[in-house]
Amino acid sequence: MRQPTAIGHARNPAGGVAAHVRRSGRRLLGRGRRTHVRNRTRSTFGPNPVDYRTVLGMDSLPGRPTSAAQTTLSRIMTALDTNLLGTVHGGVIMKLVDDVAGAVAQRHSGGPAVTASMDEMAFLEPVHVGDLVHAQGRVNWTGRTSLEVGVRVVAEPWNEVRVAKRVATAYLVFVGLDADGRPREVPPVLPETDEDKRRFAEAEIRRTHRLARRAAILKSRGTGESG
Ligand SMILES: CC(C)(COP(=O)(O)OP(=O)(O)OC[C@H]1O[C@@H](n2cnc3c(N)ncnc32)[C@H](O)[C@@H]1OP(=O)(O)O)[C@@H](O)C(=O)NCCC(=O)NCCS
Repeated sequence: MRQPTAIGHARNPAGGVAAHVRRSGRRLLGRGRRTHVRNRTRSTFGPNPVDYRTVLGMDSLPGRPTSAAQTTLSRIMTALDTNLLGTVHGGVIMKLVDDVAGAVAQRHSGGPAVTASMDEMAFLEPVHVGDLVHAQGRVNWTGRTSLEVGVRVVAEPWNEVRVAKRVATAYLVFVGLDADGRPREVPPVLPETDEDKRRFAEAEIRRTHRLARRAAILKSRGTGESG
C-alpha cells in the first residue's frame, strides 16, 4: 500500500517521460476526459498498482501535512446576525465557513484559490445571540488543481466556560488559480492521523458523487454546458 507521506518526494522525474506525459496528458484529456481518467484511479489508501500521480505528472509539488493549514475563525454573535425568528441567520454561519475555508485553501495551496462549490452544509443546532462561534477548517483532500476543505462549526456561550456544541458542518471545494486566473496545481495534502486518513477517504467518496451528479445532469440535458 502506498503511504501518502511518499507523495511529492523523490518521485519527480523532471523532464523526460513524466514531463512528456504531463504535457500530452493535459492536452489529450481535456475536461471530460480528465474526469474520466481520475474516476478510474484508485484511492491513495487503497491498492494502487499504478502510481497515477506520477503517470499524470501530478507530483511536482512537495506535499503539505494536514495540520499546516488548519485554521479557526471565531466570532461572537450579536443582534445584527439574527433572522426574523431571533436565532442566528444561516447565511452568517455560511459566510464564516466560506471565510475560514478560503483561508485554509490559500494557506495550503500557497496562492489564490476560489470557491468552486459548497455542499453538504448541515445545520445541526440553532445558534443564539451571545454565542461565541468557532469555525474550524482543514484540508480533507487534494486533487490536481482542486482541494476539499472540511469545516466544523462549534458554539459556546461567550461569557461562560462550557463544552462547545457542534452546530454545523460543511464541505467546500476550492480551486487554485494562477496569475492568469487559470486552475493551477496544488500541493498534495499529507494526512497525518487516522482521523485525517478517514476524512481523506470520505472526501474521495464525496468527490466521486459530485462528478457523477454533474455528469448525469449534463447527460440528461444532452449538452456539455454546465450551470
Ligand atoms: C472554479 C473554476 C476556477 C473552475 O474552472 P474550470 O475551467 O471549470 O476548471 P476545470 O474544469 O479545469 O477544473 C479544475 C478543477 O476544479 C474542479 N471543479 C471544477 N468545478 C467544480 C465544481 N463545481 N465542484 C467541484 N469541483 C469542481 C475539477 O474537478 C478540477 O479538479 P482537479 O484538477 O483537482 O481534478 C471556475 O469555475 C471559476 O472561476 N468559478 C468561479 C469561482 C468563484 O468566483 N467563486 C466565488 C468567489 S471566491
